[in-house]
Amino acid sequence: MKVRKAVITAAGWGTRFLPITRSQPKEMLPLVTKPLIQYSVEEAINSGIEQIIVITALGKRAIEDYFDRSFELEYVLEQKGETRLLQEMRELSDLVDVCYIRQKEQLGLGHAILTARGIIGEEPFAVLLPDDIIDSKVPTLKQMIAVYEQYKTNILAVERIGSEDTINYGIIEPGKISDHIYQVLRLVEKPEPSQAPSDLGVVGRYILMPQIFDTLEATPPGKNQEIQLTDALQLLLKQQAVYAYEFDGVRYDTGTPLGWLKATVTFALRNPDFGQELKEYLHQLL
Ligand code: G1P
Repeated sequence: MKVRKAVITAAGWGTRFLPITRSQPKEMLPLVTKPLIQYSVEEAINSGIEQIIVITALGKRAIEDYFDRSFELEYVLEQKGETRLLQEMRELSDLVDVCYIRQKEQLGLGHAILTARGIIGEEPFAVLLPDDIIDSKVPTLKQMIAVYEQYKTNILAVERIGSEDTINYGIIEPGKISDHIYQVLRLVEKPEPSQAPSDLGVVGRYILMPQIFDTLEATPPGKNQEIQLTDALQLLLKQQAVYAYEFDGVRYDTGTPLGWLKATVTFALRNPDFGQELKEYLHQLL
């Protein structure tokens, strides 16, 4: 069955970005001229996804407003003769069919995904964590869908991480299948370096089979007392294969100020309107 739906989780508190996230959803922080979440939405669309389900929470209304149509704004732009901007604003609200679910209690990533069960139904689906921005020629999700088409089972995106970083990721024990593809033999959520089964960390892109919902229901709270997707996958792999795919691309963790800054500078330097000027400015600074 084709992967048609994608869940984008946007319910977290964004504690690593306090104080700005007191009143501003972290997913709406700008990355040059677009909010972070738009990169995930565009990646999903460019990978052939037809419906996006955004999991939000209290204080995240700005996300819904952003992808909605604003007749008032369109009217003002029309009066001012700003036709190019007007066109861009219309295209933005017509991007894709987006629906929203509010996660009423923030009980973890696994719990957030479980709230989408009714809308997903019995089909494979994608999950994107919008903090992870991946710069790649072919959208990462599209690369993963190609792997899914081959194996027709759960696919996780992984990359090699520094050993001191294992405490920030789900880590897999890999069984090599081919170049860049591994069978997942075991998963551990955020282990200490000495407990990590490898240096392959899961990044925020998943293709999941609908059976994950039953295992999520059966998953007790884990790390940080949250229902962890990693723990549910560990349960799932007793009945269904889970594969990991080392994607081709550069990932930025924009959930931290430093990661966000690195992505901002890299993307801004490529901007045709001001990239060159920024480059000269940075040279002067250094
Ligand atoms: C989540 C997952 C973790 C994964 C990471 C990727 O953690 O729980 O397994 O490696 O995303 O970004 P979070 O970063 O939300 O704490």
